[in-house]
Amino acid sequence: MTDIVIHPAQKIHGEVSVPGDKSISHRLALLAALADGVSTFRNFSTSRDCQSTLKCLRALGVQCRRIDSETLQLKGRGLGGLHSPRQTLDAGNSGSTIRMLSGILAGHEFVSKITGDESLRRRPMLRIMEPLSRMGARLEGREKQFPPLKIHGAKLHGISYCPPVASAQVKTAVLLAGTLAEGVTEVLETIPTRNHTEVALREFGAEIEIAGSSIRISGGRRLHAGSFTVPGDPSGAAFWVAAAILAPHAALSIHSVGLNSTRTQFFDLLKSMGADLVCTRTSESGGEPVGNIFVRSSELKGGSLDPHLIPSLIDEIPILAILGARSRLGLVVRGAQELRFKESDRILAVASNLKALGVDVEESPDGFTVKGRQKFSGGAVDSFGDHRIAMAFAIAGLVAEGPIKVRNAGCVRISYPNFFPTLKGLAGK
Ligand code: S3P
Repeated sequence: MTDIVIHPAQKIHGEVSVPGDKSISHRLALLAALADGVSTFRNFSTSRDCQSTLKCLRALGVQCRRIDSETLQLKGRGLGGLHSPRQTLDAGNSGSTIRMLSGILAGHEFVSKITGDESLRRRPMLRIMEPLSRMGARLEGREKQFPPLKIHGAKLHGISYCPPVASAQVKTAVLLAGTLAEGVTEVLETIPTRNHTEVALREFGAEIEIAGSSIRISGGRRLHAGSFTVPGDPSGAAFWVAAAILAPHAALSIHSVGLNSTRTQFFDLLKSMGADLVCTRTSESGGEPVGNIFVRSSELKGGSLDPHLIPSLIDEIPILAILGARSRLGLVVRGAQELRFKESDRILAVASNLKALGVDVEESPDGFTVKGRQKFSGGAVDSFGDHRIAMAFAIAGLVAEGPIKVRNAGCVRISYPNFFPTLKGLAGK
């Protein structure tokens, strides 16, 4: 349990780089495990979540080796070549690890068990259990739908599946199972979600076709190893962008950030609300666009968030709530019930922390309404054990009337181990 006190900052200035993208890193590791040959990834995420993925892959017989603090090498076992694990796999706090890896385990003809920490054991898994069962595997969960999951892998067959919740993790579980299945597997997305799996599958040589909302993968095609530099994580950059917008005299450059359009809705939204923010694409890596962000202090208009945008900025909603409270009109979020099933109930966490800082906010079953032009009093908030809540309220601390204590803030290591030292550097402390 680490409590951190954040003091108001006068200036946010300078340059910052963010850690390798967590979402992309998970996918690269999983695909490298299924590929033939040795893959090398620079700027691989140092997050706890990605360590959980690597720990599970090691238990499945994959050799993973850090060449230096940021470079990872994985020796693939070839399609369908994972070993039966001797122990229960531990996905820690990582929903991506348990859901995406389950897709792979479903296509291996052995029985495996996978679980996680207390938070993960409360998160819904029916969303992956259902399609993977339809493909031919058998999955059992605690009370039918929670981890630990017992997965009876099988020879899978392709299906056409339209996920009832817009979720990139579900899409990925089905597509990864599809690489191991007989025939073609199709995912139909009614609302688009991040497409890193599709991009990475193509880079590893999979036969994947995308037409409108349909993503089709042909099973049984061997994947080849790849070497990539992982772009910086835009969801990590979101916190620094927010800090710069809110602080009175700010000018900040963020380098080498992933600018995949399925992840940049947050930046686009801020621009549409009046943010002085420019994203410049500079290169591409592993099929992913990369670039720089420049941002200055700005007054945001605020408004109602279009519910269709929610899946593409789902991880940014906690920090958006902080920005909303300081905007002219405030922020209305609806259609975001998925937030209740994240690492914490993020609607509850955001609302109760904002209230603790004296902010006028109203919770609803699928979102919240926060009034505009409000100040954050100093005080104490809780991370709820959720990295994105801890980071969002740490940023509030930079622009509050007095110091804010974030209780149990060590959870930032789940996605951004260096978050607090970076914050200290930027705030000139
Ligand atoms: C992720 C997808 C999102 C997101 C999570 C990472 C991914 O979850 O919240 O942090 O890497 O695919 P859902 O797919 O459950 O929306």
